[in-house]
Amino acid sequence: MTAARTFFVGGNFKMNPTTYSGVKALIDDLAAADIDPKAEIVVAPPTLYLIPAAAHLATLKPSFTFNISAQNVYSKTNGAFTGEISPEMLVDAGIKYTLTGHSERRTLFKDTSDTVAARTKAALDAGIKVIFCIGETLDEREGDKTMSVCEEMIKAVVNVISEKDWANVVIAYEPVWAIGTGKVATSAQAQDVHHQIRAYLSANVSQNVAEATRIIYGGSVTAANCKELATCPDIDGFLVGGASLKPEFVQIGNARRA
Ligand code: 13P
Repeated sequence: MTAARTFFVGGNFKMNPTTYSGVKALIDDLAAADIDPKAEIVVAPPTLYLIPAAAHLATLKPSFTFNISAQNVYSKTNGAFTGEISPEMLVDAGIKYTLTGHSERRTLFKDTSDTVAARTKAALDAGIKVIFCIGETLDEREGDKTMSVCEEMIKAVVNVISEKDWANVVIAYEPVWAIGTGKVATSAQAQDVHHQIRAYLSANVSQNVAEATRIIYGGSVTAANCKELATCPDIDGFLVGGASLKPEFVQIGNARRA
């Protein structure tokens, strides 16, 4: 069924670069690159740069689908929530995507499965597509808890969104032990978890959602390891951190190209 799922490559810039000119240069280089027209590319610059980045991208003519994403969003429309931005603000700014539940949000900023689910639902309700991130720590993997941890994170979202909402969700499986460590999951490890996530969606949402939802892998993805991972039947793309700031991101966007 992979043919029906558009290959998706996200670049999570995290808190980089530290100038707008740096963000603009990354977008310029990508938009001018020869990337698979069948791929969908989405980059997530820091919040401060979302508006100029989207306005600048709108002036460019990439030969592939290229969108801008937020890295996080709050679950309320407006109010006394210092430091947060709302889905409605993203809509007003012309931003089409947001990440939710990135492991750095969960671990450093104490987002929980429930608050991530609330953020995810609020974004979807406002018409923002979501790259919803899940994944286990090394201790959890070694304790044979990978699937129970991932399923608990997905269940919180399953509980609050409708079946039709899943058309606007991409699940990013990012094992915490692989993020920023240079220790990529093997294609067998990643395929195994992706396959089980799909089975979970099938049992708990619907067979259609399980077949249609893109499940992408993140954690030390590079030009050197992306091609093999991209051959796995349940891996529909990548969420890339460090390498999204480098020229090799173009090769990752082309991982499925013959
Ligand atoms: P790295 O690609 O730097 O390991 O980061 C992955 C990630 O966290 C993407 O969201």
